[in-house]
Amino acid sequence: MKDTISVGLLGLGTVGSGVIKIIRENQEDIYHKVGCHVEVKKALVQDASKIRTVDIDQELLTTDADEILYNPDIDVVVEVIGGIEKARKYILAAFGQKKHVVTANKDLVALYGEELFQAARENGCDLFIEASVAGGIPIIRALVDGLASDRITKMMGIVNGTTNYILTKMSKHQLQYEEVLSEAQAKGFAEADPSADVNGLDAARKMAILSTLGFSTNVSLDDVSVEGISGLTNDDIEYGKRLGYTIKLLGIAKRDNESVEISVQSTLLPQKHPLSSVNDEYNAVFVNGESVGETMFYGPGAGELPTATAIVSDLIAVLKNMRLGVCGKSHTASYNEKKLKTDEAIELKNYFRLHVKDEPGVFSQITTLFASQGVSMEKIVQKPLREQKAAEVVIVTHKSNKKVLDSVYDALLAADVVDSVQSRMRVEVC
Ligand code: HSE
Repeated sequence: MKDTISVGLLGLGTVGSGVIKIIRENQEDIYHKVGCHVEVKKALVQDASKIRTVDIDQELLTTDADEILYNPDIDVVVEVIGGIEKARKYILAAFGQKKHVVTANKDLVALYGEELFQAARENGCDLFIEASVAGGIPIIRALVDGLASDRITKMMGIVNGTTNYILTKMSKHQLQYEEVLSEAQAKGFAEADPSADVNGLDAARKMAILSTLGFSTNVSLDDVSVEGISGLTNDDIEYGKRLGYTIKLLGIAKRDNESVEISVQSTLLPQKHPLSSVNDEYNAVFVNGESVGETMFYGPGAGELPTATAIVSDLIAVLKNMRLGVCGKSHTASYNEKKLKTDEAIELKNYFRLHVKDEPGVFSQITTLFASQGVSMEKIVQKPLREQKAAEVVIVTHKSNKKVLDSVYDALLAADVVDSVQSRMRVEVC
């Protein structure tokens, strides 16, 4: 066994720099944990002359990926360039050269995870992906190792920091969505193009990965129903508070018998639910196992050092496997056949906010509409909108199934007494 393991970094942005810092800072600890040193041998960059936030010997920089992928001295490749096609090509080439891979790339894993894990196995290589979901929270390891003995039935995740930051600021300071988003962009907190965050796609990718591992079923991105937060108003947040809820962009993955449902949407969550107190850019994943019951994993979902921590922990896992001679032997097969729940099988509550005509008999027509679909109302709030000669009505239903609630929504849109359906959201119970 070698006494130094050589790493090639594909990418030296924020996370890549963090990897170098952590390896450097924790070299002695890593040595004691795995019995060998870790050396970054090469780092792929776009521009070798760029000034960096980490001290690195210029000799280690290259603009040619082949100097890493086909370098016989490199044992492990860390992919932190992001994007899909180039990253996929590099990772497959690394496996072809019998190099182990650690990646933070959730976009790639959500789309091509099955292909990449298979290529890793065929080449006797390890593939570790801890940093792809929820940055510094070791949620992948919790699902694959810590809870391996249990049968996971439900995962609910706040897995996007940008939207959690926006929703927290809207809620605490009564600000509108656009104001908070602009402020977050001005501070460099939200991406210049935050569309994948605010439209729920980033969270959907993470939920596809968690569901695949948690339910041992090959869940693809297309199996996740996705809605973002861009339509959300401060009115909904304030009504939510009044009714005892916090609004979060929540990834929800449930398994009943052998059928699964996976979704991402703005959700009203009871204020007493532990996920309701996950604020700002923090992430958390709430996991229910049949035997363990409720567990929750909380921490930073992004950032230089938190994400790099996950990557270096994956590197340590590869090194341990190398020591034991068991690389490429992990058994992570999706052995359960995928059965997605039909809309009739998805049980949930809904929140509706309506603008209705302020006339005699309107309320009874609305209650009749709900009753005729067999949907029971749990909470109702009404407020006059005087200048519009209208009223605002907020209704939280009891549990029903998604198909029936879709019919209620369509009937509300068509009803003469309803001027507009301002919003409709999922309500989750504790
Ligand atoms: N854009 C992501 C977020 C971080 O806001 O949580 C990377 O996954």
